[in-house]
Amino acid sequence: MSRTGGRPGLEQAWRHIYDRAYHLDRPPAAPGLDTSGWVNTYTTEPYTQAEMGEWVDETVGRILEHTPRRILEIGCGTGLLGNRLIPQVEAYCGLDFSVGALQRFSRDLEPTTRSTVCLLLASAKQIGRAPRWDYDCVVLNSVLQYFPDAAYVQEVLQQAAALLKPPGVLFLGDVRHRELLTVHHAWREWRAGADDMAVLEARASAARRHRSDREWSIVPADLADMLRSVGAHHVETRLKDGTHPTEMNLFRYDTTGFFGPVRQAVDPEWLDWKPGVERRIDWQAGRPLGLRNVPNARLAPLIAAERGLQDAADATSIGALRTAADSASYDDPLAVLRDAAAAHGAVIRTNWVRDRSGRTVDVAVLPGKESPETGPLLVRWPTTGQADAV
Ligand SMILES: C[S@@+](CC[C@H](N)C(=O)[O-])C[C@H]1O[C@@H](n2cnc3c(N)ncnc32)[C@H](O)[C@@H]1O
Repeated sequence: MSRTGGRPGLEQAWRHIYDRAYHLDRPPAAPGLDTSGWVNTYTTEPYTQAEMGEWVDETVGRILEHTPRRILEIGCGTGLLGNRLIPQVEAYCGLDFSVGALQRFSRDLEPTTRSTVCLLLASAKQIGRAPRWDYDCVVLNSVLQYFPDAAYVQEVLQQAAALLKPPGVLFLGDVRHRELLTVHHAWREWRAGADDMAVLEARASAARRHRSDREWSIVPADLADMLRSVGAHHVETRLKDGTHPTEMNLFRYDTTGFFGPVRQAVDPEWLDWKPGVERRIDWQAGRPLGLRNVPNARLAPLIAAERGLQDAADATSIGALRTAADSASYDDPLAVLRDAAAAHGAVIRTNWVRDRSGRTVDVAVLPGKESPETGPLLVRWPTTGQADAV
């Protein structure tokens, strides 16, 4: 029995699944890129090296933005992130409850590393066993979904916050967006269903998958509240910037909680997004600007597919629906803003919190580059009330 009470044995079940996945002695796709256990939900094939490489690069980059010196990674797996973080820090402690994960991680460890490294076989709730190294960064990446319930997550976050020596960050990466689960499961059917599969059958299958989905998920705003409840003074939630249409890039997010002395946040002027707004921005003014409700266009074809499945006659085939949808095109305002910002030497930051449905995102346009000494600029993001007032 799990001690969490809510979902007995789920923690153990995941441990067995991971032990089995890591036990398969598949060689790493590339040196330092051991993607054992990573399977594309939509194709059921292992993710490609390009997909995983992009995801790892982005995640490592987001962690290193905080110039951490001592990292604790909970659920470190085979060291996909750890192998790249270790050369950049003084000390790294990786914890995982799967012996197979740690065996693979230690096998790939660079023996010449000058960092102090510790790998610990323990469950996330046992992080009190980690050496007390005054961590300034605790990472939980792609792991919350295997925790049995919110009480377990809350307890781990509480303990993780207690191990942080401020100023520090708690980085919660690759978190599943709860409000988007129905779209995700519909998209699976849409992508994987045989051409002659009837819509009635696809709908039933998507609903079945949704009901039996055992991985934990949460809406970003609720995760931000959890982080604040364990002492974060500031929370930011970013969309993935990756370009591959993977589940990670489409449906997951990275949330960072900032602990310790309150840092001044940039206070942009906020406007509602409108098509073509990038042409009206005074890029030379050097002032931070905020755009509310920018459509999260990467979801547009997925939401259209979900609607297609809902609205079509029961006997219509998925193949026919897909063919009809193929001609649709979608503009991506976020990509347009990113390109315009890059051309003007500005930085774009997203916060995917205010719209619980995930359909829109707030975007800050920050003039100039961020400095590695100060870490990323903090932004005063609008609240729901503010949005309605303007
Ligand atoms: C998807 S992998 C992520 C690995 C790594 N963090 C990364 O981003 O590449 C999830 C890892 O979390 C570990 N894990 C899952 N639940 C855990 C728990 N309750 N306690 C400790 N480790 C856990 C699994 O064994 C697995 O290695």
